Amino acid sequence: MNYRHAFHAGNFADVLKHATLALALVRLTRKAKPLRVIDTHAGIGSYRLDGPEAQRTGEWTNGIGRLAGLDAEPLPAAIEALLAPYLDAVRTANPDGTLRVYPGSPAVALALMRPDDRLIASELHPEDIELLRQNLRNDRRTKALALDGWQAIRSLLPPKERRGLILIDPPFEEAGELDRLIDGLADGIRRFATGTYMLWLPIKDRPQIQNFEHKLRQLALTKVLWAELHVAPLLSDGPLTATALVVVNPPYGLSDDLAALLPFLATRLASAPGGGWELREI
Ligand SMILES: C[S@@+](CC[C@H](N)C(=O)[O-])C[C@H]1O[C@@H](n2cnc3c(N)ncnc32)[C@H](O)[C@@H]1O
Repeated sequence: MNYRHAFHAGNFADVLKHATLALALVRLTRKAKPLRVIDTHAGIGSYRLDGPEAQRTGEWTNGIGRLAGLDAEPLPAAIEALLAPYLDAVRTANPDGTLRVYPGSPAVALALMRPDDRLIASELHPEDIELLRQNLRNDRRTKALALDGWQAIRSLLPPKERRGLILIDPPFEEAGELDRLIDGLADGIRRFATGTYMLWLPIKDRPQIQNFEHKLRQLALTKVLWAELHVAPLLSDGPLTATALVVVNPPYGLSDDLAALLPFLATRLASAPGGGWELREI
């Protein structure tokens, strides 16, 4: 387990993932009933953007830095409103107004959750689970487990609330992760068919992604949203330039939110001509 999210926190892919997570939670928490959030590959929950890892790659400067950094251009009002749930979580992590800390997915989720909602965050890296526990220690709505994320899907579903969002965000450091993602989703759906599942994927090799989509279609799910963000032409080697989010059973209205947000993000976060976005139901 070599992957450390600290090198990538706040990059363009995190912006899409966390803004969408926040928007989904805004919609899911409109219903009075409690909700369970399960973050299968949770990371450490809070990242220093002035720390050595983030400084080494500088990835955040082309992600959250372009939305909330010191010299970021102001956001159009409609986009500010759409991004507010996400950016409020970022602002809460930076109370003096200077962007130094980036909230990971558990922190973004907690920022949107109500007192009776619950978060279970699983993380397998032995150092990262300790950092995650420290970062979440003051919030009684949450539990951090040193548990394999794929096992978490099998052992934690269905949640007792019968309402839930499951974020599946593996590190893609080993071959076969796309297949594990499909198997993990299938495991989840078998146990909890009505849950909202959010899957993150890097796009490097288009045929592999097409193969993933083919397998996803074979699960014959009825409501699946596919969102892509490209900040430069695809590179099979080298830095990540494109990402996809798959949302199974998206909350009502999320598709409209993404249709408004993606064109803006594709322009604001572009690092070279040849970027773009895509949103479709599959
Ligand atoms: C992409 S990062 C997670 C980022 C986090 N979800 C966020 O958005 O802030 C993937 C994390 O999964 C952890 N990990 C790797 N294999 C795992 C496994 N089998 N089960 C749980 N966590 C795992 C890694 O240590 C890493 O922290």
